[in-house]
Amino acid sequence: MKEQLEQLQMEALEEIKQASTQKSLNDVRIKYLGKKGPMTEVLRGMGKLSAEERPVIGELANTVRTSIQTTLDARIEEVKAIELEEKLKAETLDVTLPGRTSAPGHSHLLQQIIDEMEDLFVGLGYTIAEGPEVETDLYNFEMLNLPKDHPARDMQDSFYITEETLLRTHTSPVQARTMLEANGKPIRIICPGKVYRRDEDDATHSHQFMQIEGLVVDESISMADLKGTLEVFVKQLFGEAREIRLRPSFFPFTEPSVEVDISCFKCGGKGCNVCKGTGWIEILGGGMVHPHVLEMAGYDSSKVSGFAFGIGVERMAMLKHGVDDIRHFYTNDLRFIEQF
Ligand code: DAH
Repeated sequence: MKEQLEQLQMEALEEIKQASTQKSLNDVRIKYLGKKGPMTEVLRGMGKLSAEERPVIGELANTVRTSIQTTLDARIEEVKAIELEEKLKAETLDVTLPGRTSAPGHSHLLQQIIDEMEDLFVGLGYTIAEGPEVETDLYNFEMLNLPKDHPARDMQDSFYITEETLLRTHTSPVQARTMLEANGKPIRIICPGKVYRRDEDDATHSHQFMQIEGLVVDESISMADLKGTLEVFVKQLFGEAREIRLRPSFFPFTEPSVEVDISCFKCGGKGCNVCKGTGWIEILGGGMVHPHVLEMAGYDSSKVSGFAFGIGVERMAMLKHGVDDIRHFYTNDLRFIEQF
């Protein structure tokens, strides 16, 4: 029986040495120390031993059991450490892999156009002016030669808040405000901003849109200055090859008034779908500041003159980038916005 136990111990220790996973070690435990294992069997046979032999074999059996148990436990710790080591190795982070970045945003196309225009005009010595979007009838209309009963008010269906206040229908009231503030001094400003009209919204109309107003007041300002300035602006936005054409028009606050066309940037003037076959595209209104507008704002119209213009920002963006619906600018669909 003694040899049997020693044999068992040897075999068990050898198997423990060979085992390299927690699972196989557990199998070894069940095999040697489990209820149905050889140890139990040996211990069961102890009843047949003599009284002298029994404590000796009993002690040996305990020693063998403990030795198997402790070797097993030690090996399990070893294997656990190895397994952890391997797992960590397999999971190492590759710090050279590209990370998950969040894409930086960018300015809206309309803001890009405004920024480009501001850069250009600031470079020409202009400053940027601002005015309120909730405007008085006085500045929005009266100071611009549009008295209360003037029929030209019909061109700009308005959102009135009270009898005397409304959402500005154009950026032109900033002209009147700037002139009053300048107190007779020369002026060179542009004013980008939102304007509001009671339009039915469709592909080319919106109840809210943006304009850039321009105003220059000084001694001996002429129509040639207006034309030259607009040429610079058009070439900047639509390319060096563009030409402009002035057509007579009417605005109550300018005299003479013009509508300005650019030679079509798609067909170069031959006629296509963008210019509706004419070779020219209408882009803005302007003119020489009406003497009465100058006088109302405190200027002596016999000494100074000025020019003014108003550009539709959405229209510029639509023309430049072939956008076919003004509503795309406001619905904030990233598939649209990300293209610019
Ligand atoms: N305010 C005009 C509009 O919204 C545009 C305009 C025309 C502005 C002529 C001007 C100008 O400054 O001289 O329809």
